[in-house]
Amino acid sequence: MEQFQLKTAISFGSDALAALEELAGQRVMVITDDFLAKSGLLDQVLARLKGCTVEQYTDVVPDPPLVMVAQGARKLANFKPQAVVAFGGGSAMDCAKAMVEFGKKMGAPGEIKVYAVPTTAGTGSEVTSFAVLTDSEKGVKYPLVDDSLLPHQAVLDPGFLKGVPQAVTADTGMDVLTHAAEAYVAAGANVYTDALGEKAFVLAWKNLPAAFGGNQQAKAQMLLASNLAGMAFNAAGLGLSHSLAHALGGRFHIPHGRLNAMLLPHVIRFNAARREVAERYAALAKACGLTPTARGLAFAVDRLRRKLGQPDRLSQCGVDPKEVKARGDELAAAALADLCAPSNPRDATAQDIKAILRELA
Ligand SMILES: NC(=O)c1ccc[n+]([C@@H]2O[C@H](COP(=O)([O-])OP(=O)(O)OC[C@H]3O[C@@H](n4cnc5c(N)ncnc54)[C@H](O)[C@@H]3O)[C@@H](O)[C@H]2O)c1
Ligand SMILES: [Fe+2]
Repeated sequence: MEQFQLKTAISFGSDALAALEELAGQRVMVITDDFLAKSGLLDQVLARLKGCTVEQYTDVVPDPPLVMVAQGARKLANFKPQAVVAFGGGSAMDCAKAMVEFGKKMGAPGEIKVYAVPTTAGTGSEVTSFAVLTDSEKGVKYPLVDDSLLPHQAVLDPGFLKGVPQAVTADTGMDVLTHAAEAYVAAGANVYTDALGEKAFVLAWKNLPAAFGGNQQAKAQMLLASNLAGMAFNAAGLGLSHSLAHALGGRFHIPHGRLNAMLLPHVIRFNAARREVAERYAALAKACGLTPTARGLAFAVDRLRRKLGQPDRLSQCGVDPKEVKARGDELAAAALADLCAPSNPRDATAQDIKAILRELA
């Protein structure tokens, strides 16, 4: 039997924040990062929390470390919120989701509604049961996956994307394409995730270059693509790009989407050795008007990455190729142990992963 389930309510558009007004008078914890708190954007969120008792947690940092999440969870448990507003990119949303989860074990109320307001396009975390945390001591990044991490409400207001720096638009946009492409060929794909994944891929493909150029309408489309891709991969699963991006991100602290942008073409070529998977990639390429083959898709992703000024190799991100080689076994083991690996459509061995790492170094 196959199943497809949606839990999160979604509001989108220029007045999407109105969805927060149902929290009037409640105890609300707002979780975000220092930049967003100081940018003035947070004020738009706070203005909607009429009559609420608000506690702000603004210490989120990119790739949230476990230690920080545990500290935040303690604060959350002491404050005992009825709702949490997670405001920011994937890092803030994941941190908030994990803080609620850990906070409940520390005495916070069992029922806390999470309202996720993404400010990047994006991770899709506002509609997923994933929260990616970093164990800084071990240099490992790993996803927590549990239905209880699904937000109650996603609030998509494209106005928040206006000031996103070009490099962040490129990184997060390539993350969207990778979510859509990986979900489309993943082991758990079905007709529902295909519809979401294909639409997300085509929307992102058409709009990412203009969003990178600063076009606000294209940025709004990217926010929708990010959300659709999140729903697709939440049900279908991801693949080797993400398991390797987690392994490399935990060790070398390169932005998540930038790693996926480098990895995706290698993974497409690896997975395309299975004919039925190659046909799926060809269908995605065709839907975007590209040469309808897996190689055509991989080539087009390589070309787009360069157009967005992103690096081709880890050495261009300040990583010594010798270190990648020396850590080959460790990185391959981390990638294979990652929760995104089992849904990749072709089984990979440590040797296969090390071959990709050699090309990537
Ligand atoms: N939960 C999921 O389903 C999921 C999926 C993919 C990735 N992730 C995780 O999400 C994290 C990455 O999230 P991200 O790519 O959104 O980046 P991020 O949240 O780390 O943010 C990157 C930078 O952009 C800034 N920023 C965010 N919004 C901005 C805005 N509107 N204007 C200006 N600057 C802004 C932030 O302050 C930060 O400095 C990684 O840890 C990744 O592993 C989670
Ligand atoms: Fe991702």
